[in-house]
Amino acid sequence: MTRVFSGVKPTGHLTLGNYLGAVRRWADEDQYRAESLFCVVDLHALTMQHDPARVRRLSRQAATLLLAAGLDPEQCTVFVQSHVDEHARLSYLMECTATDGEMRRMIQYKEKSVLAKAAGDSVRLSLLTYPALMAADILAYATDEVPVGEDQTQHVELARDLAVRFNQRYGHTFVVPEATSPAVAARVMDLQDPTAKMGKSHESGAGIVYLLDEPDAVRKKVMRAVTDSGREVAYDRESRPGVANLLDVLGACTGRAPGALAETYESYGALKKDTADAVVELLRPLQERHAELVADPGYLETVLRRGAERAREMARPTVDAAYRAIGLLEP
Ligand code: TRP
Repeated sequence: MTRVFSGVKPTGHLTLGNYLGAVRRWADEDQYRAESLFCVVDLHALTMQHDPARVRRLSRQAATLLLAAGLDPEQCTVFVQSHVDEHARLSYLMECTATDGEMRRMIQYKEKSVLAKAAGDSVRLSLLTYPALMAADILAYATDEVPVGEDQTQHVELARDLAVRFNQRYGHTFVVPEATSPAVAARVMDLQDPTAKMGKSHESGAGIVYLLDEPDAVRKKVMRAVTDSGREVAYDRESRPGVANLLDVLGACTGRAPGALAETYESYGALKKDTADAVVELLRPLQERHAELVADPGYLETVLRRGAERAREMARPTVDAAYRAIGLLEP
């Protein structure tokens, strides 16, 4: 059976972009068609200046939202990265397989190290080695497919290269994974800056719909979305990125094609209103389920404990094999 692995980094509140771009497909499709693991990758939240209490809170919230979004612990494995030692164990071997140059070429490293310096912080070494840990996340589980957004494909490519290199040097140990991206676009852009991805850790929240935003807040953000000059509603990502983004969101919420939707609107106002309503309705059941889960913290703990046990069992044989293959003595 196909093995799927993906991760959510608890550095910010989860957004509509995370949901429509990734999590919804994990819940609706991947967990049923593949043997899937979905991981709150908390170790990755420590590569930039961080607040321990916030990471703890966001990790719990991310796990809760994954369940609220429909991940079913009977169908897939939901767990927290730091609960399974195999990630850190394998990460070191990945650091011994990757090169310094390879790590420094990563776009995310270049961007984030500049950000850290601009904020007057030092650049943590883990920001550089992050892709080695991410490769370990993926390779430890003999993963076939990694459903991620475009911004992560470079990291998955690196994981592939490391798998191939390790296998060539030390004998076949790892499955070579592949990045997969959803066929239906659902690349949600910032409502205030439709050329930038709706990111969970973006500066101002005005263009970002968070999964736990109240209906009023959702409506306000959508109604204030930046649109384009011109008046008729047309679907053109190049010349009308703001309107195209609204049509993409409405299309993703209603299951209709954005191009066809465009023809049914005469004004931006009507499009915004319907989009706002559709997002509110999309989030309603998820928020209700979230509230139920929060009221029963013992349930989440049990799910995460069992998830970590299962994940550990899956990862250990591969990581042990890698330790042997690279020349470390059996304990
Ligand atoms: N780097 C990913 C992100 O920033 C999160 C992540 C960490 C991940 N490990 C992973 C995603 C393994 C997929 C597979 O979004």
